Amino acid sequence: MMARAWAVVPAAGSGRRMGAATAKQYLPLRGRPLLAHALAPLLGCKRIEAVVLVVAPDDNGWREAVAPGPRLLTAPGGPERCHSVLNGLAALADRAADDDWVLVHDAARPCLPAEDVEALFEQLEQDPVGGLLALPLADTLKQADDQGHVLGTVPREGLWRALTPQMFRYGLLRQALAAAIESGDHVTDEAAAMELAGHRPALVAGSGSNLKVTTPADLALAEAVLRAREEQ
Ligand code: C5P
Repeated sequence: MMARAWAVVPAAGSGRRMGAATAKQYLPLRGRPLLAHALAPLLGCKRIEAVVLVVAPDDNGWREAVAPGPRLLTAPGGPERCHSVLNGLAALADRAADDDWVLVHDAARPCLPAEDVEALFEQLEQDPVGGLLALPLADTLKQADDQGHVLGTVPREGLWRALTPQMFRYGLLRQALAAAIESGDHVTDEAAAMELAGHRPALVAGSGSNLKVTTPADLALAEAVLRAREEQ
Protein backbone atom coordinates (compact mmCIF):
# COMPACT_ATOMS: atom_id res chain seq x y z
CA MET A 1 0.00 0.00 0.00
CA MET A 2 1.27 3.49 -0.83
CA ALA A 3 1.97 5.64 2.22
CA ARG A 4 -0.21 8.72 2.54
CA ALA A 5 1.36 12.18 2.29
CA TRP A 6 0.97 15.50 4.09
CA ALA A 7 2.66 18.88 3.83
CA VAL A 8 3.84 21.48 6.33
CA VAL A 9 4.54 25.05 5.19
CA PRO A 10 6.38 27.22 7.75
CA ALA A 11 5.29 30.84 7.19
CA ALA A 12 5.93 32.37 10.60
CA GLY A 13 9.20 34.19 9.87
CA SER A 14 9.63 37.93 10.20
CA GLY A 15 11.15 38.46 6.74
CA ARG A 16 13.40 41.22 8.09
CA ARG A 17 15.77 41.11 5.10
CA MET A 18 12.98 42.23 2.75
CA GLY A 19 12.69 45.60 4.49
CA ALA A 20 9.01 45.81 3.50
CA ALA A 21 6.04 46.85 5.67
CA THR A 22 4.02 43.85 4.47
CA ALA A 23 5.11 40.43 5.78
CA LYS A 24 7.14 38.66 3.10
CA GLN A 25 4.62 35.89 2.51
CA TYR A 26 1.92 38.41 1.58
CA LEU A 27 3.91 40.50 -0.90
CA PRO A 28 2.17 40.54 -4.30
CA LEU A 29 3.57 38.39 -7.06
CA ARG A 30 1.77 38.27 -10.44
CA GLY A 31 -1.35 39.60 -8.69
CA ARG A 32 -1.45 37.01 -5.90
CA PRO A 33 0.27 36.88 -2.49
CA LEU A 34 3.61 35.07 -2.49
CA LEU A 35 2.19 32.51 -0.05
CA ALA A 36 -0.57 31.50 -2.49
CA HIS A 37 2.12 30.60 -5.06
CA ALA A 38 4.07 28.57 -2.48
CA LEU A 39 0.97 26.56 -1.53
CA ALA A 40 -0.38 25.99 -5.06
CA PRO A 41 1.83 23.04 -6.13
CA LEU A 42 1.15 21.27 -2.80
CA LEU A 43 -2.62 21.83 -2.81
CA GLY A 44 -2.55 20.85 -6.49
CA CYS A 45 -0.84 17.52 -5.78
CA LYS A 46 -3.41 14.75 -5.43
CA ARG A 47 -1.08 12.63 -3.31
CA ILE A 48 -1.14 15.22 -0.50
CA GLU A 49 -4.05 14.79 1.93
CA ALA A 50 -3.75 18.17 3.66
CA VAL A 51 -1.36 21.08 4.07
CA VAL A 52 -0.55 22.57 7.48
CA LEU A 53 0.20 26.27 7.20
CA VAL A 54 2.27 27.47 10.17
CA VAL A 55 1.67 31.15 10.89
CA ALA A 56 2.62 33.53 13.70
CA PRO A 57 -0.11 33.43 16.39
CA ASP A 58 -1.09 37.10 15.79
CA ASP A 59 -1.09 36.81 11.98
CA ASN A 60 -4.51 36.67 10.35
CA GLY A 61 -3.34 37.75 6.90
CA TRP A 62 -3.39 34.19 5.58
CA ARG A 63 -7.20 34.22 5.64
CA GLU A 64 -7.20 36.72 2.79
CA ALA A 65 -4.20 35.23 1.02
CA VAL A 66 -5.45 31.67 0.59
CA ALA A 67 -8.85 30.06 0.18
CA PRO A 68 -9.77 28.06 3.29
CA GLY A 69 -10.83 24.48 2.70
CA PRO A 70 -10.81 21.04 4.27
CA ARG A 71 -7.28 20.39 2.96
CA LEU A 72 -5.81 23.49 4.65
CA LEU A 73 -4.98 23.31 8.37
CA THR A 74 -3.08 25.84 10.47
CA ALA A 75 -0.67 25.67 13.41
CA PRO A 76 1.03 28.41 15.46
CA GLY A 77 4.62 29.42 14.65
CA GLY A 78 7.52 29.22 17.08
CA PRO A 79 10.65 31.30 17.68
CA GLU A 80 12.68 29.70 14.86
CA ARG A 81 11.88 27.77 11.71
CA CYS A 82 12.57 24.40 13.37
CA HIS A 83 10.06 25.11 16.16
CA SER A 84 7.47 26.21 13.62
CA VAL A 85 7.90 22.98 11.63
CA LEU A 86 7.66 20.87 14.78
CA ASN A 87 4.39 22.64 15.67
CA GLY A 88 3.13 21.89 12.16
CA LEU A 89 3.97 18.20 12.59
CA ALA A 90 2.25 18.14 15.98
CA ALA A 91 -0.94 19.42 14.31
CA LEU A 92 -0.99 16.20 12.25
CA ALA A 93 -0.61 13.89 15.25
CA ASP A 94 -4.20 12.60 15.11
CA ARG A 95 -4.15 12.04 11.35
CA ALA A 96 -0.69 10.98 10.19
CA ALA A 97 0.83 7.53 10.68
CA ASP A 98 4.55 7.18 11.42
CA ASP A 99 5.26 5.79 7.94
CA ASP A 100 3.32 8.53 6.13
CA TRP A 101 5.28 11.08 4.12
CA VAL A 102 5.46 14.70 5.11
CA LEU A 103 6.75 17.37 2.73
CA VAL A 104 8.09 20.52 4.41
CA HIS A 105 8.17 23.50 2.05
CA ASP A 106 9.28 27.10 2.77
CA ALA A 107 6.51 29.67 2.36
CA ALA A 108 9.25 31.85 0.88
CA ARG A 109 9.61 29.60 -2.21
CA PRO A 110 6.88 30.61 -4.68
CA CYS A 111 8.34 28.96 -7.81
CA LEU A 112 8.31 25.25 -6.96
CA PRO A 113 7.52 23.33 -10.19
CA ALA A 114 4.87 20.61 -9.88
CA GLU A 115 7.33 18.22 -11.58
CA ASP A 116 9.74 18.56 -8.65
CA VAL A 117 7.04 17.39 -6.24
CA GLU A 118 6.45 14.42 -8.57
CA ALA A 119 10.21 13.72 -8.64
CA LEU A 120 10.28 13.46 -4.83
CA PHE A 121 7.50 10.86 -4.85
CA GLU A 122 9.01 8.96 -7.78
CA GLN A 123 12.50 8.75 -6.33
CA LEU A 124 11.70 8.30 -2.63
CA GLU A 125 8.55 6.16 -2.60
CA GLN A 126 10.46 3.01 -1.56
CA ASP A 127 12.95 4.81 0.70
CA PRO A 128 12.71 4.08 4.43
CA VAL A 129 13.79 7.62 5.41
CA GLY A 130 13.28 10.23 2.67
CA GLY A 131 15.25 13.10 1.20
CA LEU A 132 15.24 16.61 -0.17
CA LEU A 133 15.27 18.59 -3.39
CA ALA A 134 18.76 19.96 -3.93
CA LEU A 135 20.95 21.47 -6.61
CA PRO A 136 24.66 20.80 -7.26
CA LEU A 137 26.69 24.00 -6.72
CA ALA A 138 27.46 25.80 -9.98
CA ASP A 139 29.55 28.68 -8.65
CA THR A 140 33.07 28.57 -7.22
CA LEU A 141 32.97 29.01 -3.45
CA LYS A 142 35.16 31.49 -1.56
CA GLN A 143 35.92 31.55 2.14
CA ALA A 144 36.05 35.20 3.34
CA ASP A 145 38.05 36.81 6.14
CA ASP A 146 36.39 39.44 8.35
CA GLN A 147 37.64 42.23 6.03
CA GLY A 148 35.76 40.83 3.05
CA HIS A 149 38.84 39.41 1.34
CA VAL A 150 39.32 35.89 0.09
CA LEU A 151 40.99 33.48 2.50
CA GLY A 152 40.72 30.55 0.17
CA THR A 153 38.71 28.59 -2.35
CA VAL A 154 36.44 25.82 -1.10
CA PRO A 155 36.32 22.81 -3.45
CA ARG A 156 32.74 22.57 -4.69
CA GLU A 157 32.92 18.93 -5.69
CA GLY A 158 30.13 16.99 -4.01
CA LEU A 159 28.49 20.15 -2.63
CA TRP A 160 24.75 20.71 -3.09
CA ARG A 161 22.38 23.54 -2.16
CA ALA A 162 19.46 22.31 -0.06
CA LEU A 163 16.03 23.37 -1.39
CA THR A 164 12.52 22.50 -0.28
CA PRO A 165 10.29 20.51 -0.18
CA GLN A 166 12.14 18.09 2.04
CA MET A 167 10.19 14.84 2.30
CA PHE A 168 10.58 12.45 5.23
CA ARG A 169 8.66 9.77 7.10
CA TYR A 170 6.41 11.53 9.61
CA GLY A 171 7.46 9.59 12.72
CA LEU A 172 11.21 9.78 12.04
CA LEU A 173 11.10 13.49 11.25
CA ARG A 174 9.07 14.43 14.29
CA GLN A 175 11.42 12.47 16.52
CA ALA A 176 14.56 13.89 14.87
CA LEU A 177 13.39 17.52 15.03
CA ALA A 178 12.33 17.23 18.67
CA ALA A 179 15.70 15.65 19.55
CA ALA A 180 17.69 18.33 17.67
CA ILE A 181 15.81 21.15 19.43
CA GLU A 182 16.12 19.37 22.77
CA SER A 183 19.90 19.21 22.33
CA GLY A 184 20.01 22.95 21.56
CA ASP A 185 20.74 22.53 17.84
CA HIS A 186 18.29 24.82 16.06
CA VAL A 187 18.65 23.23 12.63
CA THR A 188 17.83 25.36 9.58
CA ASP A 189 16.34 22.50 7.58
CA GLU A 190 14.73 19.11 8.21
CA ALA A 191 17.56 17.16 6.60
CA ALA A 192 19.98 18.52 9.23
CA ALA A 193 17.77 17.13 11.99
CA MET A 194 17.66 13.75 10.22
CA GLU A 195 21.46 13.78 9.81
CA LEU A 196 21.89 14.46 13.55
CA ALA A 197 19.67 11.45 14.20
CA GLY A 198 22.07 9.32 12.13
CA HIS A 199 20.09 9.14 8.87
CA ARG A 200 21.39 9.90 5.38
CA PRO A 201 18.72 11.82 3.45
CA ALA A 202 18.66 11.22 -0.31
CA LEU A 203 19.47 14.15 -2.62
CA VAL A 204 16.86 14.57 -5.38
CA ALA A 205 17.97 16.92 -8.16
CA GLY A 206 15.58 19.88 -8.24
CA SER A 207 15.07 22.94 -10.39
CA GLY A 208 17.24 26.05 -10.00
CA SER A 209 14.15 28.19 -10.50
CA ASN A 210 12.80 27.04 -7.09
CA LEU A 211 14.37 30.08 -5.45
CA LYS A 212 13.88 31.40 -1.93
CA VAL A 213 12.68 35.00 -1.75
CA THR A 214 14.89 36.77 0.79
CA THR A 215 15.58 40.22 -0.68
CA PRO A 216 13.60 42.56 -3.00
CA ALA A 217 15.83 41.45 -5.89
CA ASP A 218 14.66 37.83 -5.37
CA LEU A 219 11.06 39.01 -5.67
CA ALA A 220 11.75 40.45 -9.13
CA LEU A 221 13.43 37.19 -10.13
CA ALA A 222 10.48 35.11 -8.87
CA GLU A 223 8.13 37.38 -10.84
CA ALA A 224 10.16 36.74 -14.00
CA VAL A 225 10.19 32.94 -13.43
CA LEU A 226 6.42 32.82 -12.95
CA ARG A 227 5.79 35.07 -15.95
CA ALA A 228 7.98 32.91 -18.19
CA ARG A 229 6.08 29.80 -17.04
CA GLU A 230 2.69 31.39 -17.72
CA GLU A 231 3.84 32.31 -21.24
CA GLN A 232 5.11 28.81 -22.07
O1 C5P B 1 14.01 33.22 7.24
P1 C5P B 1 14.01 32.14 6.23
O2 C5P B 1 13.75 32.65 4.83
O3 C5P B 1 15.15 31.18 6.32
O4 C5P B 1 12.73 31.26 6.59
C1 C5P B 1 12.39 30.08 5.89
C2 C5P B 1 10.94 29.78 6.13
O5 C5P B 1 10.71 29.49 7.51
C3 C5P B 1 10.04 30.97 5.77
O6 C5P B 1 8.96 30.46 5.03
C4 C5P B 1 9.62 31.52 7.13
O7 C5P B 1 8.35 32.11 7.14
C5 C5P B 1 9.64 30.28 8.01
N1 C5P B 1 9.86 30.56 9.45
C6 C5P B 1 8.91 30.14 10.38
N2 C5P B 1 9.07 30.43 11.73
C7 C5P B 1 10.14 31.12 12.15
C8 C5P B 1 11.12 31.56 11.22
C9 C5P B 1 10.95 31.24 9.87
O8 C5P B 1 7.90 29.52 10.02
N3 C5P B 1 10.24 31.40 13.46
